[in-house]
Amino acid sequence: MASIISHNPEETFALGRQCAASLRCGDVLALAGDLGAGKTQFTKGLAAGLGVECGVTSPTFTLIHEYPGGRLPLFHIDLYRLEEEAEVLGIGIDEYLDGGGVTVIEWADKFAALMPAGVRWVRFRVLEGDEREIAY
Ligand SMILES: Nc1ncnc2c1ncn2[C@@H]1O[C@H](COP(=O)(O)OP(=O)(O)OP(=O)(O)O)[C@@H](O)[C@H]1O
Ligand SMILES: [Mg+2]
Repeated sequence: MASIISHNPEETFALGRQCAASLRCGDVLALAGDLGAGKTQFTKGLAAGLGVECGVTSPTFTLIHEYPGGRLPLFHIDLYRLEEEAEVLGIGIDEYLDGGGVTVIEWADKFAALMPAGVRWVRFRVLEGDEREIAY
């Protein structure tokens, strides 16, 4: 596992943008880490790297956002507010996972057992100030 230190939000965005280049249809990225650790910031960079045109917002209230229009469709899911596995299955997560795009899941570690085989984990840790350790 590689890990880097991000020193500011722009570096985290840039890492997401770089990561996008390696993504293929059907890939699932599971993001883990505390509140404000940079998971959404990373996803914004990913969207930019895929060429998604409209801006990514935090999906905390809507659970799932779909962003068409880039090299691959991006599905952005946030499991923060869910408690039960049945709720996660109830939002139709399986359809996204084989849905012909890239799926990014914030708070995936809450439901690690539901992540598909081949999922790529990206773990965010808040260090001092604006520093974040990002391991992938
Ligand atoms: N190095 C950094 N990388 C990313 N974000 C940073 C960094 N330093 C400071 N920040 C700030 O931390 C916050 C990260 O917010 P973001 O929404 O990306 O976190 P999150 O992990 O998605 O949190 P949540 O669990 O609430 O969804 C932003 O306000 C951003 O400006
Ligand atoms: Mg977030």
